Amino acid sequence: MDAGSLPQQPRPPFIWGVSTSSYQIEGATGEDGRGASIWDTYCRQPGRIANGDTGDVACDHYHRYAEDIGLMRQLGIDAYRFSVAWPRVMPTGIGQTNEAGLSFYDRLIDALIAAGIEPWLCLYHWDLPQALEDRGGWSNRDSAQWFADYADLIGRRYGDRVKRFATFNEPSVFTLFGYCLGGSAPGLSDHAMLLRAIHHVNLAHGAAIDRLRATVRHASLGAIHNCQPCRPAGGKPEDLLAAQTLDAYWNGAFPDPQLLGRYPPLLVDAIAPYQRPDDFARICRPVDWFGLNHYSPHYVVAGSGNPLGIAFASAPANVARSGMGWPVEPEAFRETLIDMHHRYRLPIYVLENGTAVVDQIDATGEVSDPSRIDYLRAYTNAMFDAIAAGADVRGYFVWSLLDNFEWGSGYGPRFGLVYVDYPTQRRIPKASFRWYADLIKHGREDHRTVKSPAA
Ligand code: FCB
Repeated sequence: MDAGSLPQQPRPPFIWGVSTSSYQIEGATGEDGRGASIWDTYCRQPGRIANGDTGDVACDHYHRYAEDIGLMRQLGIDAYRFSVAWPRVMPTGIGQTNEAGLSFYDRLIDALIAAGIEPWLCLYHWDLPQALEDRGGWSNRDSAQWFADYADLIGRRYGDRVKRFATFNEPSVFTLFGYCLGGSAPGLSDHAMLLRAIHHVNLAHGAAIDRLRATVRHASLGAIHNCQPCRPAGGKPEDLLAAQTLDAYWNGAFPDPQLLGRYPPLLVDAIAPYQRPDDFARICRPVDWFGLNHYSPHYVVAGSGNPLGIAFASAPANVARSGMGWPVEPEAFRETLIDMHHRYRLPIYVLENGTAVVDQIDATGEVSDPSRIDYLRAYTNAMFDAIAAGADVRGYFVWSLLDNFEWGSGYGPRFGLVYVDYPTQRRIPKASFRWYADLIKHGREDHRTVKSPAA
């Protein structure tokens, strides 16, 4: 039989989705027995969050999830990525579970499945139970065991209906900013704690993967990494070293040990004091895919304000910026997808990409956001180019379904495809919502050849 007569291999269907996270949308922080998280504590510390905002109410998704799933249906997505709030299901992080919190996610998952939307469950999107932070949080080696027990609970409870699990969302971001650079809960500045946290989060990842494999039949597992090229913004050798240093912490510190069984060379000596002989065997467990979040590249110079010797710098003047001030460079996304494909050799799911815009309701009650459409068009086209160049990209999720609590920036930046009028909690789909629905419809037909439609 010649190759021409062989039946064509079916391609796995491309998955279109949106992503959110528990603390950023749920609200109801004091309801139904939920324990406190480090973000509840951090938001109450004066000066931490713009405008003194908190996640107490957020998008009130805890009560409005059915309406929000209705929006997802209108959008036509295949999959929805959300996170479970650990303190909602285990108020103090270990031991006692909270049935009311567990049943909220039962309802959410059941309603998603009834709507034909596949649930993608992330175990950790930064809201550590405060009771565990009081024991040292991720700087305590026991955290790997705490997290494994939590993963076990989640796998047993939801694994009959949920098959896609991510361990951590952007471990580099919450460890770097939470333990060293400032700007994220728990708000510490301690290099040794950062190094410990990196290693323990890696151990926690490996332990959780093992528990999920044991508890969930046909599980499809991964972790979600924020991959951003780090470029020197100055011409001095110190600037190059600063960019390489940030690259090691930001891009390498988690995927390298988890997938290649080693730390980036710049981190090897620093982490060594916290490592035990068989740790890499525990960390580097087989996973099924690589979750990739990407917004922009970093520009970096040497700096003296922190133990890493780095400072974030502006992009060159000719580069466009988003509402967060982040550079808009779709080419960097294409390159990142191709690089991660070659480096880790796993199917890639883009689990966050999107942009903040200063959105407003116009006189007709609509929200027109052409710059978000431009961004999404350019970035999805960059992804299609990466696929055409051989990158094994299997899905794309927009950040985010709804405007929400953007961490230290509070409710100012709006990332949603749906506008949230916070005083009334009214949801208004933006023009980009319709644009994305259209892309999904066309993309389903042939994601390899389609270019995103014009606005
Ligand atoms: C990512 C976070 C997500 C959101 C977006 C804008 O780093 O994972 O929660 O804040 O940035």
